[in-house]
Amino acid sequence: MLDFEFDPYDPAFFRDPYPKYAKMRADCAVHHWTKADVWTVCRYSEASDVLRDHRNFSSRPAGEAFLKKLPGNRWDDPAEVNPATRDQLRGLLVAADPPVHRDLRKSVARAFAPRIIEILRDDTQILVDGIIAELVQRPSFDAVEDFATVVPVSVACKMLAIDQSQVPNLCGWSSVISRGLTGSIRESDHRESGLFDAHLGIQRVIRGSIAQGKSSDPNSVLAHLLTAFYAGELSRRETIGFASLIFFAGVEATRALIGNCIMHLLENPDLLEQVCQDAEAVPLLVEEILRWNSPSQFAFRRAINDTEIGGITIPRGADICVVLGSANRDPDYWGVDAENFKLGRNARPHLDFGVGIHTCLGASLVRTEATIAMTAILPVLRERVAKYQSDVTFDSAHIRGYQHIWLNTRETVSAQ
Ligand code: HEM
Repeated sequence: MLDFEFDPYDPAFFRDPYPKYAKMRADCAVHHWTKADVWTVCRYSEASDVLRDHRNFSSRPAGEAFLKKLPGNRWDDPAEVNPATRDQLRGLLVAADPPVHRDLRKSVARAFAPRIIEILRDDTQILVDGIIAELVQRPSFDAVEDFATVVPVSVACKMLAIDQSQVPNLCGWSSVISRGLTGSIRESDHRESGLFDAHLGIQRVIRGSIAQGKSSDPNSVLAHLLTAFYAGELSRRETIGFASLIFFAGVEATRALIGNCIMHLLENPDLLEQVCQDAEAVPLLVEEILRWNSPSQFAFRRAINDTEIGGITIPRGADICVVLGSANRDPDYWGVDAENFKLGRNARPHLDFGVGIHTCLGASLVRTEATIAMTAILPVLRERVAKYQSDVTFDSAHIRGYQHIWLNTRETVSAQ
């Protein structure tokens, strides 16, 4: 069956999309999501082909087409789109095609060189240690809001030479933007829902940091972006757009990744014990969670030519949603146990960081950051947590993670 209804906002789908993905993969490589007029690609092989084929599939519309076409989304009303957001989408690396993409990527890739990531590793360790030291003083905390969110926001501030005092504001704004793009407030008035203010808030902080940029840490990502800007390689819009991307693309997915790791360990005490015993298992845990419960569920393209995918011709101009979360569980690629979490499987070829020319530039940083964060919280999960409670999944159709994971320490529970 080619035509089908696919509603990423259906609460049942939102809670557990994997049974639907399994049906889609078994049925056909490509489906036409009629209501939104978007083509979905759900199997590993075809998903990988589309992402690698930048000659036939453009990234230029990126998420814009998806966001616009989602039923009820106010993005379809130009008067409702925050001009700052529209501007950012236009200047974004992730939404550029060659040759613009090649030049842009070359300019910003220097800011993610292994030497810079090495320095950020040390900074991340210090930040994470400080966050954990404060949390363990509390009788209870939310592992998502107070840890999984604070870590990537603090690291992003370090990258962009933003003062750490801005972390609470940025955590709030980042979450509002995610909910406003593909979450429950997508249909609300942008001003009433706080989306407009969240965009302006992030912009103000980023522009402020850029304005002071010359005196910023010479090893920061911002310093490298500014070097490219002063060399004329990046325009002002591209510089601001890229700095904003670190928040839009990086923070929410990393938050979801750390939360998904924590939740899986809490639900599987034997696995928690195993990972606690073996530090080398932590990066394997992170990698398998990226595959098995992917934080980034979709990537977007537009067909430049009539192109065949899995025996079906996708017409020129069609909007395409590559379902990463489904490709990452395709048994034809991963084997019969694809639906199972398996520590130590070679999960590295998962598509959650994309593949091809747009492969996530932050991948190496994310792996480092999540490994440091998980290593630091493991003793807390094992020794101090007596009770946990998870709330609904994160309020976004695109980013898959938990909204809250409430943890009570043993001391609190025994005192009750
Ligand atoms: C768990 C965390 C993350 C996930 C799952 C993720 C996922 C992705 C995916 C799937 C793409 C490719 C999109 C496409 O092909 O259309 C991408 C691109 C990108 N990501 Fe990430 N990302 C994460 C975190 C980050 C972080 C922390 C940063 C920066 C600090 C970052 C920076 C980028 C950039 C700059 C691109 C665009 C690359 C290009 O177009 O050439 N990401 N990411």
